[in-house]
Amino acid sequence: MNVRTGTDRMPLVLAIETSCDETAVALVQGPLVLASEIASQIELHRPYGGVVPELASRNHNLTLPPLVRLLLDRAGVGPQHLEAVAATAGPGLASSLLIGNTFGKALSLALGCPFFAVNHLEGHLLSPCLGRIGSVPPSAALVVSGGHTLLVDVRGAGDYRLLGSTRDDAAGEAFDKVAKMLGLPYPGGPVIDRLAREGNPAAYALPRSMIGSGDFQFSFSGLKTAVHYLLPKIPPPMEGHLPDICASFQEAVIEVLVAKTMAAARATGRKLVTVSGGVSCNGRLRQSMTAACERAGLDLWLCSPGYGTDNAAMIGFVAATRLAAGRSGDPLEGDIDPNLRLESWAG
Ligand code: KG4
Ligand code: ZN
Repeated sequence: MNVRTGTDRMPLVLAIETSCDETAVALVQGPLVLASEIASQIELHRPYGGVVPELASRNHNLTLPPLVRLLLDRAGVGPQHLEAVAATAGPGLASSLLIGNTFGKALSLALGCPFFAVNHLEGHLLSPCLGRIGSVPPSAALVVSGGHTLLVDVRGAGDYRLLGSTRDDAAGEAFDKVAKMLGLPYPGGPVIDRLAREGNPAAYALPRSMIGSGDFQFSFSGLKTAVHYLLPKIPPPMEGHLPDICASFQEAVIEVLVAKTMAAARATGRKLVTVSGGVSCNGRLRQSMTAACERAGLDLWLCSPGYGTDNAAMIGFVAATRLAAGRSGDPLEGDIDPNLRLESWAG
């Protein structure tokens, strides 16, 4: 067993994440990830071009108990070693959230240890801190996932001010919808990322929506519509043009994300920028954000790609920050909230 012991040892947390289409479990001690397992449902939902809620929850119900057993066995940890259980309480699909949340509560009740209901967005927000010992530093944070695009002023763990979000589609959602238009498989982000590497980002002029709006709001539905109107103008066969279309679309998203994040760092005076969520795995975003932060003299913590998309380690880390702050857990009577917002959690 690789559990840290000694006077500086941090409580061992079992974390569960089932907000959408990944069944994920992890064991963490503070920011240290001892073990992490993710059972992806991507293949299950691929024929439908998106996540089917009932299929997702039924699959979580089948997968979660054996996945927890596998996690504990692989880590050589017995249930009696667990000191807290954490599970995502929202936002996400109600029926999927209920599986992980109920399982987590039952486990904490059986073990007599605290239960933490964790906001999925706070998990993404703090995921760049995984593996880094020390308290959560102030930062200008960009969270870009399939469901959310947020700019947040992080003052410390549990202390957040939302600067802006998207008015319509999330950045990842735009990748997925444009990929669908192009006949590419779900999820579209990784496929567009790969194809764009061979393409010219200046091949097609696409809108940089709200880049000059002077605030921290985003909008990606106009860009999606612009791609929709572009496609009939492209001479067949489409395949040969895919790299250029993907590169041009991706650049339009990334230019706005980078510009607004830099503006957020300037406005808040933060010297550290963090980027998290599934879209933070994008190669071009990582490259552009790195270059922009270097130019501006800012530190950059990019979420490590293994913790960019949904995972339970980030959920466990949020619980660890609460334990470190002296919190004793959340009531087992607490409900899930499919529409949970980040601000409602911040204290
Ligand atoms: O954080 P996440 O796993 O789930 C949500 O909480 O939404 O993010 C999934 C999203 C999907 O929209 C997916 O297409 C996108 O992240 N994504 C990417 C890349 N990898 C995943 N988008 C662009 N480039 C990537 N490499
Ligand atoms: Zn997520």
